[in-house]
Amino acid sequence: MTSDINREFIDHASALRAAEEGVAKLAAGRNDRWYPKFHIASDGGWINDPNGLCYYKGRWHVFYQLHPFGTQWGPMHWGHVSSDDMITWRREPIALAPSLNVERDGVFSGSAVEGDDGRLWLFYTGHRWQEGPNGEQENLEVQCAAVSDDGVHFEKLGVIIDNPDRLFHFRDPKVWKQDGRWYMVFGMSTPDKRGQILLYSSENMRAWHYERLLFRHPNPGVYMLECPDFFPLSDPNGNLRWVLCFSAMGEHPNGFSNRNLHNAGYVIGTWEPGERFQPQTEFRMWDWGHNYYAPQSFEAPDGRRIQYAWMSPFIPPHPMQEDGWCGQLTLPREVTLDHYGCIRTNPVEETTALRCGTTDFGSFVLDVNENRVLCDDIDAAEIEMEIDVSETTAERAGLKIHSTDDNAHTCVYYDDQTHRVVLDRHAAALGNRGYRAAPFTSHHLKLQVFVDRSSVEVFINDGEQAMSSYSTPSPGKRAIELNAESGTLAIQSLRIHRLRSIGLDR
Ligand code: FRU
Repeated sequence: MTSDINREFIDHASALRAAEEGVAKLAAGRNDRWYPKFHIASDGGWINDPNGLCYYKGRWHVFYQLHPFGTQWGPMHWGHVSSDDMITWRREPIALAPSLNVERDGVFSGSAVEGDDGRLWLFYTGHRWQEGPNGEQENLEVQCAAVSDDGVHFEKLGVIIDNPDRLFHFRDPKVWKQDGRWYMVFGMSTPDKRGQILLYSSENMRAWHYERLLFRHPNPGVYMLECPDFFPLSDPNGNLRWVLCFSAMGEHPNGFSNRNLHNAGYVIGTWEPGERFQPQTEFRMWDWGHNYYAPQSFEAPDGRRIQYAWMSPFIPPHPMQEDGWCGQLTLPREVTLDHYGCIRTNPVEETTALRCGTTDFGSFVLDVNENRVLCDDIDAAEIEMEIDVSETTAERAGLKIHSTDDNAHTCVYYDDQTHRVVLDRHAAALGNRGYRAAPFTSHHLKLQVFVDRSSVEVFINDGEQAMSSYSTPSPGKRAIELNAESGTLAIQSLRIHRLRSIGLDR
C-alpha cells in the first residue's frame, strides 16, 4: 500500500485466516434446530446485509456482512457463497477482512460489478470508530475498492472516495454502468442530520467525481439512508422508470407501515444522467414483515432484476444466537413493474427446483371454527393457496405454521375486518412477537408461503406485496394447520411442497 491512508495494520491474508478460524469454531458447536435449509446464512457467526450480488464467469455470487467471531454484530467482514444455478450453493473463502487503517473497524456494505478489464470489482465502505468531542463513538467512513480475477480472491485497492469533511454515516456504495460511464450512489447524513443519497461517476472506476445530490429524504426525522440502490425498470408497455431504494433510519411508525426499527423501501420516478431523481410516488415498503432490511439488487445476464435482503433480527431475543449463528438472507426475488406501474416481487423462477414432493389438497370449504392439520411435521415447505374471499365468511382464516404440541405457532391469515393479510406471532414459541398486516386489493387472494426452520416469507397475489419474518418454533414436530374463525373458509386450491436444502446446511 502506498499512501498513509491505505496503510495496513495487519496483512490481509492473516486477517482472513483468523476470520475463517472464528467461523469454523462457531460452526463446530452449531445447533441446527433453527438453521435454514433453503436460505443463505453463515456456517457460524453473525450476518447482516447482502453485498456484492453479481453473476461473474458463469457463477452467481452472494457476499454478505459477516462477524466471524461471535453471534452479535461486530467488526464486519465479507462472507461469500456462490452457485452455478441459483439453487444449490457452495461456501467460498471469506472475501474481505479489515486490514487497512481506514477500515480498521469493519469492511461495510457495498456492491460488485465486472469491470472494463474483465475483473470482478468490489466497492465497499471502510469503517472506523473515532472519539467525538464528548467522548462518544462516531463513525468515520470512506469508499474503497478491491479486485479479483477469479471472483474468489481479492486484492485491495484502498480508498477511492475519501471523506475529508469527516461526515458521519457516509456509506454503502452501489455501482453500475450506463451509456459508457460508471455511476455510484451511496448514503450519507448531513451535519444537521438529514438522510441523503449522493451520486458520483467515473470513467475508469478508480477516479471518482462528485456529480450531485440525487435525493434528500423529505422527512427531517430521517437521518440516514443506508444501502441505497438505483435501477431502471420498464413496465409491460415499455415505459421506463427509475427505482430509488434505501433503508431509512429514523422513520416513525405510521399505522401498518414503517413498524420496524428501520424500514426498507423505494420511490419510483424518473432520472437522466446529470439530473436529480424526480420522484413520482410516495415511499413504499418492499416488504411488510418484521424482518426485511438492506435489500440490494443486480441485473442478471438475462435482464432480470434480482433482489436479496437481510432478514434483520432488530428486536431481541434472537434465539439462534445460542446456536452459533445469527441472521439469514431472504430468498432471491425478481423485481418487476406491472401494468399499473407498481412494483412486484416474486421468488425467482429457480426456486421451483427446490420442490421435492407435493401434496395437492384440491378445493374445499373449511367449516365454521374448524382447525385442520395439513401436514404434521415439516421443516422446509412451500404452500400455494388460493382463497375465494367473496365465498369466505370467516372473520379470520388461514395458516398456522410452526405449530407444535405446546400450542405455539405463527399465523398467516386473511383478516376480513381489515381486509389485510396478517403475519401474527402472538403465539410464537420464542423470539420477538407482534404482528404485521399487508394490504391486498382483490376478492381473490393467492398466497405463496415459504416456511424454513426459523422463518416465513409470504408473497401475496403474485408479488403485489410480500412479508418476511422470523418464526422460531418449539422443539418437536412442526405442523402446518388451516383454521377458520367465526365463519367458513373457501379454498380454491391448496398445495404443499416439501423443499430440499440449498446445500449450505448439514
Ligand atoms: C445496514 C448497515 C450498513 C452498513 C452495514 C454494517 O444494515 O448498517 O449501512 O454498511 O450494515 O454492517
